[in-house]
Amino acid sequence: MLGRVKLFDTHCHINDQKLAADLPNVLDRAEKAGLCGMAVIGCDWRSSLFAVHLAEKYPQLVAVVGFHPSDSHGLTEEIFADLAELAALPQVKAVGEIGLDYYWDETPRDVQRKWFVEQIRLAKRLKKPIVIHDREAHGDLYNIVREEKAGEFGGVMHCFSGSWELAKEALRQNFYISVAGPVTYKNSRQLPEVVKNCPLDRLLIETDSPYLTPEPYRGKTNEPANVFFVAEKIAQIRGMSVEEIAEITTANAKRFYGI
Ligand code: NI
Repeated sequence: MLGRVKLFDTHCHINDQKLAADLPNVLDRAEKAGLCGMAVIGCDWRSSLFAVHLAEKYPQLVAVVGFHPSDSHGLTEEIFADLAELAALPQVKAVGEIGLDYYWDETPRDVQRKWFVEQIRLAKRLKKPIVIHDREAHGDLYNIVREEKAGEFGGVMHCFSGSWELAKEALRQNFYISVAGPVTYKNSRQLPEVVKNCPLDRLLIETDSPYLTPEPYRGKTNEPANVFFVAEKIAQIRGMSVEEIAEITTANAKRFYGI
């Protein structure tokens, strides 16, 4: 059954020790599940550098580098200059994950906003898209996105968690909507509506592994192979086959990352 699907996990953290410790097996299971590509996302300096190394080693991987809002207190002008050099490398296809996180609030909000803006401007200088993390910060985040014209070279709202109204605003700002494991959860209310209404050519799928494991494996460590269950749920919501959803979202992922 899985032989015919071709999936692309647009957001995973196999550079996280939880997955990196078992990487050959993680990649093997991904291949068996039909994955033809994965984007490895950085959230600080070390994980960004590691993402680049992995993309150099494995042809099915692309790297995304940046500082997650919760880690952005670790940024200095000096580290930012190093990040800019890293982001310019050809195997780096986007800047991320960047954004605002008002749920954990691990970095003062003004510091989060400053480095979010700086990283948007960096991506625009490099003409690369951005991968956005937005947790309970919709108001400030969309204001910055509009003011900075952050979607000029493309962008994605990763692990989208808002209403269809908010999704429409993201689409207007030239963003893709990326759907992760929570779409498979029983209490998921807004996400099915977003999935039902989102234009198919703007929809991406991801695992955000090792986090947010989809059903039926919720509670276990997540890994890229499980992106299949996200595609399956989307197919069910849209009344399409999982092969069709896989084909469409993989084409979208390749267009988004310019590969
Ligand atoms: Ni992530």
